[in-house]
Amino acid sequence: MADREDAFRAPKGTNDILPPASWWWERARRRAEDIFATSGYAPVETPMFENTEVFERGVGQATEVVTKQMYTFSDLGGRSLTLRPEGTAPVVRAMLEKNLHRGALPIKLYYAGWMFRQERPQKGRYRQFFQVGIEAIGSDAARADAEVVWLGAHFIRSMGVEPTVHLNSIGHPDESCRGGYIKILVAFLDEHRDELAADDRERISTNPLRTFDSKEASTIAVMEGAPLIADHLCDACRKHFEAVQQDLRNVGIAFTLAPRLVRGLDYYTRTAFEYTAGGLGSQDAIGGGGRYDGLAEALGGPHVPGIGFALGIDRLRLAAGEPEVDQHPVDVYIVALGEDAGRRSFELATRLRTAGVGADLDLMGRGLKGQMKDADRSGARWAVILGEDEMASGNATIRDLTTGEQRTAAFDEVEAELTR
Ligand code: HAM
Repeated sequence: MADREDAFRAPKGTNDILPPASWWWERARRRAEDIFATSGYAPVETPMFENTEVFERGVGQATEVVTKQMYTFSDLGGRSLTLRPEGTAPVVRAMLEKNLHRGALPIKLYYAGWMFRQERPQKGRYRQFFQVGIEAIGSDAARADAEVVWLGAHFIRSMGVEPTVHLNSIGHPDESCRGGYIKILVAFLDEHRDELAADDRERISTNPLRTFDSKEASTIAVMEGAPLIADHLCDACRKHFEAVQQDLRNVGIAFTLAPRLVRGLDYYTRTAFEYTAGGLGSQDAIGGGGRYDGLAEALGGPHVPGIGFALGIDRLRLAAGEPEVDQHPVDVYIVALGEDAGRRSFELATRLRTAGVGADLDLMGRGLKGQMKDADRSGARWAVILGEDEMASGNATIRDLTTGEQRTAAFDEVEAELTR
């Protein structure tokens, strides 16, 4: 139970997004949706919670997300449900359930929504955070990888942030590729067991690749000399990776090869990538993604390859340096004095709004001065004034709030005058 002082505060690790900042969020979300849609991706929504197995099987039993970070609860029917910590496993679950993979391929989808992870909150790391993401499913072509990597970079740039793209291939799990490499890595880690931090020693048997992600200085020093997956890829994975790089160079995407980038979720195969930006401190990944050619099978389906990414909008906002936000201003603010004028102002506002003109009016019963201030603050270009003189003459005053110029129009013609 939260104690009394905390009872009516937002839960730890969550944020309220209030105006004016909420305008920036709205813009980011719409821009992402526009950019993804114009590359052939369609919107998808999945539930905010799933059967827990979707993440256990999809994201992986040994991952930090599954072992430490999930919001898991039983519903009244005794089912184990989990608030989604990420969007990829749910999208693939939905695709299999609705048999999309039996229809036209590829299936290109985008989403924007809240994700939940019970992490220790700090700057850029929250318990509820917003992701936009895409998934391109059904193609194993390197060009799909290049399209996905490019699209993420393109969106981040469109929000005024210059990302660094870190690119790696982690191969596929067979003996001939990552499977063989992991044996070599485990042998190396065993040799250096005593030099590793305690948590990382445990990872040798549970999730050896994750030692590359350790934040412990002693482990980091050991990993400097570790064998790298890049040197142990099978021919097919190496060729695939080279083709991805070639395509990215063709379209002018600069990237850094990141041979120690392994990502935190178990479903990745072949291409793995992250976008980082300055100004974020230790949580510098704005987004990440990769191929997940084995995920559909892990969720009980046939082999269906796929690749995607998700971007953290909370972090993108920090990276953007909390920019000035353009609010969405109304076009017209109606200033009205007295009962009759008030009635007319509401009627005029509804007419303007119906015609698609942004209009606002006084709801506080303010005087002329106060309403003129509200008009300025609203960002409207025009004030329509319904004062005593206007009510007597039947003509409204239309004031251009940028130049101060005024003209009059009969009440019934205000709308035509403003839409002209
Ligand atoms: P992820 O790397 O776990 O990948 O998350 C992607 C992004 O979400 C991160 O780079 C970060 O910006 C944001 N993020 C993650 N956790 C937090 C947090 N606690 N607070 C704030 N932001 C956070 C995935 O989720 C994969 N589903 C991406 C993907 C799609 N792979 C293939 N398709």
